[in-house]
Amino acid sequence: MPKKNESWGGRFKKQTAKKAQVFSSSIDVDQNLYLQDITGSIAYAEALQLAGVLTKGELAKIKSGLKQIKQKIEAGKFKWEESLEDVHMNIESALEKAIGSAAKKLHTGRSRNDQVVTDLKLFLLDQSKELQICINDFLKILVLKAESETETLMPGFTHMQIAQPITLAHHLMAWYEMLNRDLVRFQESEKRLSISPLGSGALSGNRFNINRIKLSKALGFKDVTKNSIDAVSDRDYVAEMMFNISLMSVHLSRISEELIIWSTSQFNYIDLPEELCTGSSIMPQKKNPDMAELVRGGSAKTIGNLVTLLSLLKNQPLAYNRDNQEDKAPLFDSINYALSAVDITAAMIAGADFNADAMLTDVYDGHICATDLAEYLVIKGIPFRDAHAISGKAVQLAEKQNLLLVELTLSELKKLNSVIDKDVYKYLDPMKSINSKNSIGGTAPSQVKKQISAAKALLKI
Ligand code: ARG
Repeated sequence: MPKKNESWGGRFKKQTAKKAQVFSSSIDVDQNLYLQDITGSIAYAEALQLAGVLTKGELAKIKSGLKQIKQKIEAGKFKWEESLEDVHMNIESALEKAIGSAAKKLHTGRSRNDQVVTDLKLFLLDQSKELQICINDFLKILVLKAESETETLMPGFTHMQIAQPITLAHHLMAWYEMLNRDLVRFQESEKRLSISPLGSGALSGNRFNINRIKLSKALGFKDVTKNSIDAVSDRDYVAEMMFNISLMSVHLSRISEELIIWSTSQFNYIDLPEELCTGSSIMPQKKNPDMAELVRGGSAKTIGNLVTLLSLLKNQPLAYNRDNQEDKAPLFDSINYALSAVDITAAMIAGADFNADAMLTDVYDGHICATDLAEYLVIKGIPFRDAHAISGKAVQLAEKQNLLLVELTLSELKKLNSVIDKDVYKYLDPMKSINSKNSIGGTAPSQVKKQISAAKALLKI
């Protein structure tokens, strides 16, 4: 039978309906915050003692009681009660059972509204650090792979059509750039995350002379919130974390898409590690890139989760509303995906074998140096638009005879424009084309090597 809630049931004559209890309980999800809840409560109890609300004896009891509860949870021996709604009330009630009446003073001046934000921010600071470690490991893998592929030619694509010659290292470093932006984004979000709401109370503040600054430092925060109404209603930091995760997931999904395409027998650019692939229950020959597909597929939920969170926030009047309880399931879901998706994508690339021959074959396909021919003509004094048209004619001529551009004779080329001379063939060589793209960030090995050394310095490898 549902009981009248002991924490807030004073003004109620009736018990909470079972269906309301079931509907509103969040314990299955927010028990995930137990560690931060206990850490927050210990720090708050210390602040209460300094403010004269708790005696030193009461503080000691509270601290040891909370530590025992933590051990019990970690040993899997704690019984979470649905009737106690959430992690905060489960722990407070267990504390009272463990140490008696001193526990009843812990919530003085505190509300679950500032408590839950404190817990969530502490949790996200931890998770953000963990994600940053995973991304960092991934970046190292990319840089080290790139370092050994600075002379490996491959076709660069636009519209998925062969476009211009590049190196594999250049492509790998493009992935590096995407993920490095993600890393920086997580780092920068910490500034806004690391602001303690504790001491904001339900919404209007705290009358018990709590030293908020000291309290925030004890919890490892860098600053304190400046408006208690905003502090308890703000979930921007959740949205920001979820956006960061969504955008990173989009990057992981794009990388996975390339891994999937490259591992087809048609492309055959990459052999994914067998231990990260799966077979078919009917077709014995299959080696499927399921991990890459799940990274790509799973990214969809991170976008959905972000939209859930933003939709949850957009109609809320100030200050706290229970709607906010719905933030945790999508947030945790996104974080869980992110941690494992970064890890598995990194492992796929670390264990992959790249097929330089297949890439090289394609480099000699698709008239990949047509732009180089146009640029050769520019160097010979022809305006680019005219040069583009002449090179297009050369492509037409080559296609008609089923030849490569480089296989056209000098007299055929000269017929297109008399400035063309035998030095043109240098411009139709993919490696020379690559070497000529020496602008900052370009595909020339000298440039890519610079990008790699800068990245290595940043990653301290
Ligand atoms: N379980 C709630 C949440 O996640 C905690 C805050 C409850 N506050 C309240 N006034 N009912 O948001």
